[in-house]
Amino acid sequence: MPGLSVDEVACRYGLSAADIAKLGSAENPYGPSSAAQAAVAEAISRVQLYPSWTAEPLRERLAETYGYEQRNYLCGAGETEIISVLIRAFAGQGDPILMPAPCFPMYHLFAEAEGRVADLCYEATDRPSMAVDVDAYVAAIRPEHKIVFITNPHSPSGTWTAESDLRRVIEAASHCLVVLDEAYVHYSGDPGGIGLVEEYPNLIVLRTFSKVYGLAGLRLGFGVAHSGVIDVLLAAKPTWNVGQLQIAGGVAALGDHDFVAKTVDTICDARSYVQDLFDAKLDRFRCVEGSRSNFFLIELLDHDLNSTGVWQSLLERGVITKDGAVSFRGLGQRFLRADVNFRQRMDQLVAALGDLP
Ligand SMILES: Cc1ncc(COP(=O)(O)O)c(C=O)c1O
Repeated sequence: MPGLSVDEVACRYGLSAADIAKLGSAENPYGPSSAAQAAVAEAISRVQLYPSWTAEPLRERLAETYGYEQRNYLCGAGETEIISVLIRAFAGQGDPILMPAPCFPMYHLFAEAEGRVADLCYEATDRPSMAVDVDAYVAAIRPEHKIVFITNPHSPSGTWTAESDLRRVIEAASHCLVVLDEAYVHYSGDPGGIGLVEEYPNLIVLRTFSKVYGLAGLRLGFGVAHSGVIDVLLAAKPTWNVGQLQIAGGVAALGDHDFVAKTVDTICDARSYVQDLFDAKLDRFRCVEGSRSNFFLIELLDHDLNSTGVWQSLLERGVITKDGAVSFRGLGQRFLRADVNFRQRMDQLVAALGDLP
């Protein structure tokens, strides 16, 4: 679920929009890739034309960028559209779908909306690291599951699952589709799991243009898998689900390497900066270690506090975060998720936390 908008918070608390730290939606603080912006503006002159129903120019560029062939790629209006299509295509009414809890809520929201059963594998929340417990996850896989989700880096913890552990999950779920969601992989310093698709016909890797490319409002994502998986999804997706502007923006963004590098550098620098700030300045809050993403979990160490109260107090101070109790099933009352953003915004977050009564 997206976090609150700057305008909403500015208006509600009488604050200036420029002073608000928007740390609840893991967007790109630099804005959109300028190459994508220019390509979208140019493509406006073609919007009287239907796009290719498979977004062919983008599939072509994806195949050039990541290998495989065009028929191995599916494009969608964000990863979330692809997630909804694959839940409908690969699981029937009443079928169980496995996911860690906490996880990206769209997995269980779509599953439940479509009459499928979200089987949440609950993680203990009293651990120093909030990384996915792969042993427990592998043990939870059953022959009845039709889909098994993994997110890497994970959300909300931002933690990383090693390739050897991913393989254990994919192999234990060889009877069904494994969805490896790599929405935040650029921030991990690892090339990610697209290379595994060659070995595993039951794997689909998902990526988005919403994060490192700064195109959350354009709505664009893709999946890469064996063509048998892609054919099933092509038959199930809405026909012209990706428009001319998305295709043009996506093709240009894939080539905007400088923008990606600048964003990743800034986020990685600010991620260690904010960890140090928490250690130096805050006693009642812990920055949970191990994030390789552009967000991290804040644990409330003071048992007189709860996440909803802290979330509200931060809002009043112009800092938007995600309340773990509301945004992530199974996370409980002791965590918030905050984005990594410019250093100045990290200062603002830490100052606001330090200011809480
Ligand atoms: C783990 C994860 N996957 C997918 C998405 C959604 O991506 P998109 O904007 O492409 O629908 C998000 C968005 O926050 C996310 O956190």
